[in-house]
Amino acid sequence: MREIDKTKPVLVTGGSGYLASWIIKMLLEDGVNVNATVRDLSSAQKVEHLKVLAKASTGQLKLFKSDLMDYGSFNEPMQDCELVIHTASPFFVTGIKNPQDELIRPAKEGTRNVFESAKRNSTVKRIVLTSSVVAIYGDNVDMELVKGGMFTEKEWNVTSSAEHQPYAYSKTIAEKEAWAIAEEQDQWDLLTINPAWILGPSLSKRTDSMSISTMIEFGDGTYKSGVPELWTCIVDVRDVATAHIKAGFTSGASGRHIIVSKEATLLDIANILRKNFGDDYPFPRRQAPKILFWLIAPMFDRTRKFVSKNVGIRIKFDNSYSKKDLNMSYIPIEQTIQEHFQQILDDGLLSKTQPGQAGIED
Ligand SMILES: NC(=O)c1ccc[n+]([C@@H]2O[C@H](COP(=O)([O-])OP(=O)(O)OC[C@H]3O[C@@H](n4cnc5c(N)ncnc54)[C@H](OP(=O)(O)O)[C@@H]3O)[C@@H](O)[C@H]2O)c1
Repeated sequence: MREIDKTKPVLVTGGSGYLASWIIKMLLEDGVNVNATVRDLSSAQKVEHLKVLAKASTGQLKLFKSDLMDYGSFNEPMQDCELVIHTASPFFVTGIKNPQDELIRPAKEGTRNVFESAKRNSTVKRIVLTSSVVAIYGDNVDMELVKGGMFTEKEWNVTSSAEHQPYAYSKTIAEKEAWAIAEEQDQWDLLTINPAWILGPSLSKRTDSMSISTMIEFGDGTYKSGVPELWTCIVDVRDVATAHIKAGFTSGASGRHIIVSKEATLLDIANILRKNFGDDYPFPRRQAPKILFWLIAPMFDRTRKFVSKNVGIRIKFDNSYSKKDLNMSYIPIEQTIQEHFQQILDDGLLSKTQPGQAGIED
């Protein structure tokens, strides 16, 4: 049982990211001081919203320049911190040319880099690592491997590799590395947050997080011809941020935590969007047959193996441990999706299509 002193600064890595920005906002509003690391202090798009948040809050924010691949760059921002929240990790599943350099090394070696700094910094008592449900499963077909019809915190992803699902592989080996380092010492304890697909309003106008770019694609016509029957699980970004903070400050909490609100297909998301925003946007109206998507998968930078092992296969997660250990409750996905798309419109990230263009394929 480790009590974390709320008067000490909390280190949040990857501070300019979609999720981390919410964690920082909640901490600052609670009067907690935050040391946040970012890769580029000079990018207004990455840091301006954090400065605005800090001005409106009682907690104080200090920004530091750190990179996962720059060894020792987390030493200074970690000084005096008892709690480290490590969110930084490359997050993309398409456009990958060199999975080792783009995803796997930064995730694994970056985790080691941050955790080695914690070993050198005697004030650190707890690390909360942002892992993912993809450290629990690789493909939807892995459901066949689990007993009880639901993935739980006991499972590990055993099917991803550098060649197949490299992002999932990067998260799996980064989390494994984290647990291995944690077991070598008893100065601090490790908890992991394993969120599903994070959606919900963003605090910045950045569109490069996959959570945001995919939501924009729902409204810009990318999927107007139809979506595959792809089952996913969704969770609100505000719930994921809350889970990190509860994991940080709940002294008796421990272990891995699946953070999931509800499962849905891509068409379910489109239907929620249409219900709330009408026909002004070309939201997809139907599911493309699996065989069609299998044939055209390379056009979408997806492999046929991905289609075979994922499309049409339902997944389910057990979130009961997060409710018990962290007292989590979950925002309904309808609210998450509605508020996310509204923020995209409010921030001018998507313009309305001309009347008549919506649902053009129907
Ligand atoms: N979004 C989801 O659906 C989802 C689901 C489960 C888990 N996660 C995990 O949640 C975490 C945050 O992701 P996000 O959704 O907030 O996406 P994001 O906005 O793309 O955030 C990723 C963060 O990682 C940082 N980063 C990447 N490479 C880095 C490097 N070499 N050195 C330092 N920082 C680096 C980025 O820095 P810059 O700001 O400089 O680009 C950014 O702050 C990640 O660990 C991701 O794997 C996300």
